[in-house]
Amino acid sequence: MTNNFLLGAATAAYQVEGNNDKSDFWIMEHLKNSTFKEKSGEAVDHYNRYEEDIQLMREAGMNAYRFSIEWARIEPEKGIFDREATEHYRNVLECCHENKITPIVTMHHFSSPQWIIREGGWENEKIVDYFKNYCRYVVTELGDLMEFICTINEANMRNELITVMKSFAKSLGINIQVGVKLQLPEKMMAGQREAGKAFGGIESVNTFLSPCTPKGDLLIMQAHEAARDAMRTVDNRFKIGLTLSLHDIQVVGNATEKAVEMWDDEFKHYLPFIEKDDFFGLQNYTRTLVGEEGELSVPEEKKKTQMGYEFYPQALENVIRKVSSELNLPIIVTENGVATDNDKDRVTFIEEALSGVKRCIADGIPVLGYMHWSLLDNFEWQLGYSKTFGLIEVDRKTQTRKPKDSFYRLAEIWKRESER
Ligand code: BGC
Repeated sequence: MTNNFLLGAATAAYQVEGNNDKSDFWIMEHLKNSTFKEKSGEAVDHYNRYEEDIQLMREAGMNAYRFSIEWARIEPEKGIFDREATEHYRNVLECCHENKITPIVTMHHFSSPQWIIREGGWENEKIVDYFKNYCRYVVTELGDLMEFICTINEANMRNELITVMKSFAKSLGINIQVGVKLQLPEKMMAGQREAGKAFGGIESVNTFLSPCTPKGDLLIMQAHEAARDAMRTVDNRFKIGLTLSLHDIQVVGNATEKAVEMWDDEFKHYLPFIEKDDFFGLQNYTRTLVGEEGELSVPEEKKKTQMGYEFYPQALENVIRKVSSELNLPIIVTENGVATDNDKDRVTFIEEALSGVKRCIADGIPVLGYMHWSLLDNFEWQLGYSKTFGLIEVDRKTQTRKPKDSFYRLAEIWKRESER
C-alpha cells in the first residue's frame, strides 16, 4: 500500500494564482471597509509559474499535487464557459502528468464567481444546479487527464463559522481553522451593506465564507451529491470525494456530551451525503479541547502556531482513526500543515504527522495519500500574506521561489517511515 501512496502538497487557486478578478473575494478585498488585511493582487503568480512549481515538486520526490480550478475563470458569467481558462487548466494537468505527478483536482475551494453571489450565493437552492453544471463542464473537457476529484473544499466551513460566531460573543480568544477574521455585529452589518452594494445591490452576501443557515448547510451537501453523480455519468473511472475540516476533539473533565455534539456538527451529520463517495478528504491542523461549556482556549504554556492554535501534529492520527471508525471509505489527507516562520518546527510537525499516518496504515486503515498544506507561502484569505504555511517561500517582489528545508524533507521522511 505504501508503494502507491500519494505524497505531495496542496494549494488553492485563489490563494496562489493571482488576479482572480471575476471571483467574489476580489470584490470583498477591494471594499472600503474590507475585512481583508491586504489584497491578493498577483498572489504568488502560480497561474504563470505552475510549470516551475510542478517541476520543483518532482525534484523533491513528490508524486501528487492537489490544486483547485477557479470556477470564476472557467465560467465568468452564468453559462458562458471560457476556452482560454479551460486550456490553461489542461496545460496544468498535462504538466502534472509529464512530471509523473498525480493531480488531485478540487472543483471549489472557497471562492465562487461573482455572478453566483449576485444570485444569492450559497443560500440559493439554484447553487445545486449551477455547481453541477460547472463540474460536468470541467470533466467533459478535461476529465481525460483527471482521476481524483474533490468536489467542495471544507464543506463544513460555513457551518463551523456559525458555531464559532456563537462562541465569539462569549470569548474573543477562539480560532477557527482558516484565515477568517470575525467582527463585532455592528461592523459586520455595515460591511454587509457595503458588500451588498458592490455586488450590484443585493440584500445579503452569501459567499462560502459567510456563516450559513441550516438550509445553506444542506445545500452544500446537495451540490456535492449532484456534482458527483453528474461527473460519474461522464466517466465512471473518476474517484470523487468531499473534504471536511476536522479537529481532534479532546474532552477535558466532564464534557463528553459536548464533545459528541461538536463532532456531530463537524462530521457525523454529513455521513449520509458522503457514504457513496469514492474517498474522503480529511483536513486537520490541530486539536480542540472541550469543556462542559464548549471549546476551551489553548493553555498558556502550549506552543502555538502563527494562527494562534496549538502546535499539535498528533491530532492527525487521532482524527484519521476516528473517521475510519465511522466511515467506510479510503481516506486521503487532503490538507495538514502548520503556519510558522521556523522551518525546523515544520519539519518536526511533518515527522510527527507522517509517523501517525504510517501507524494508521499499519493498522489496516486505508489512507491513500497525504497532501501537505501548503506547497507555497500564500494568501491566507482575510489574514493576507502574514501566515506562512508553505514548503516554499516566495519573494513576492520578484516571484522567486526559495524551497525551504521542509520541502525536500517531506519525501525523505515518508520514505524513512515506510521502510521502518
Ligand atoms: C483551507 C485553506 C487554508 C488553510 C490554512 C484550510 O482550512 O482549506 O484554504 O489556507 O486551512 O488556514
